[in-house]
Amino acid sequence: MLDDKPPAVPPAGRGLYTGRLSTEGPLVLLKSALRSYEKSAHPHIPELHGWLDYFRNNPQAVDAQPGCLSTDEKRAIGGSIAAFQLGEYSEGHSLMKFARSFAETERADALVEITRMFIREEQNHALLLKDFMARNSIPTIKQTYTDTVFRKLRKRAGYELSITVLITAEIIALTYYRALRQATGHPYLKAICSKILADETAHVAYESTLIRFIRAKHSPLKRRLMRALHRLLLFGTIIVVWREHRKVLLRGGYPFSAFRRSCRGHFSGAGL
Ligand SMILES: [Fe+2]
Ligand SMILES: [Fe+2]
Repeated sequence: MLDDKPPAVPPAGRGLYTGRLSTEGPLVLLKSALRSYEKSAHPHIPELHGWLDYFRNNPQAVDAQPGCLSTDEKRAIGGSIAAFQLGEYSEGHSLMKFARSFAETERADALVEITRMFIREEQNHALLLKDFMARNSIPTIKQTYTDTVFRKLRKRAGYELSITVLITAEIIALTYYRALRQATGHPYLKAICSKILADETAHVAYESTLIRFIRAKHSPLKRRLMRALHRLLLFGTIIVVWREHRKVLLRGGYPFSAFRRSCRGHFSGAGL
């Protein structure tokens, strides 16, 4: 359990939670990175430098006054936030290992630093939520079945599948945090959701460029197979997340059909 103080700023000085948060900066940087990506005649790994700039300059703090959830809200969303907080945190050792190997094969050194900063952003999401939970006496949880399955898939899968699993979770997160933001009247939690949504929007765009690059190297048959498996994974994840988080989703205005439609929309929007 955390005490009332926000966590210390991490040594690198960029990337992690500093106790204040702005959500406009990331969007401007994201738009700039995407513009640079769109201008490219070769939308593949060399465009990593646009993402390198984005991750280097993306501020991480949240600007809102902490306060307390009502008892009713805490009961409705506390457990769900704790499960997502657990999912946000990872040391990222396997992903770093896969990224190093892939970067070497593709001669794309920038990928290593990008992956490191990407992991720090995810850790920042976990810190923001953990801090909020501590302020509202919501206990952290150590394990959920879904989280364990996702971690095992990511660790054993290799780079392509690891990114595929990650982007699937992030596509779900794009709808979940929107629902959570609508489900709460708490300004600080709304600001945290906005910050995570801005980051996850960039992560989905970044990872979809990687996946498209990797899949372009496959035979047409393997490409079709990977897409089919990815749609299956998305569908399975939608079902599991709905089962475990429907209280928040409903409260945020997403009955099952709207939740599924929204997730599928983000999936198609990412060109997957
Ligand atoms: Fe995240
Ligand atoms: Fe993410």
